[in-house]
Amino acid sequence: MGEEQQPTGAPHFVGKKDELIEAKRSFRTLEGRDVLIISHQSGFYAIDSYCYHAGGELQNGDIEEIAGKLCIICPNHKYKISLAKGEGMYKASDPREKPPVPRWYSKGVKQRTHAVTESDGDVYVKLSEDACWVESDFYQGEKGKVERAKA
Ligand code: FES
Repeated sequence: MGEEQQPTGAPHFVGKKDELIEAKRSFRTLEGRDVLIISHQSGFYAIDSYCYHAGGELQNGDIEEIAGKLCIICPNHKYKISLAKGEGMYKASDPREKPPVPRWYSKGVKQRTHAVTESDGDVYVKLSEDACWVESDFYQGEKGKVERAKA
């Protein structure tokens, strides 16, 4: 991960289930990491709060189903990010196809996602411990704050 501290592996209490459902989007800072907790339909998702593209605030993004995946649409430049895995989704067509048919594809994981669990009406988020660099890591920590402020 970037300049921020390594996750402890401990689940963090982030709120009561009913409150999070009512709020729909909840912002939490966990171990110095800014995380967005989303309640959508009957599920909870936790993702890095700032878009991997240029640090846009995903908290204000709409949610749509794209190619069978629930995605948040970044309000800044409309990048689409799957809630479950943090995949960047894009639409393209193969010019060799006649006529070309636009389809959705995944660019792979671009946004770090975190595990959400529930117990007796309490909701917990455990930060991702995946050591691989994920593009959204850039916008966490002090350096990312500076970049977001410039945007
Ligand atoms: Fe999110 Fe550009 S900052 S799409």
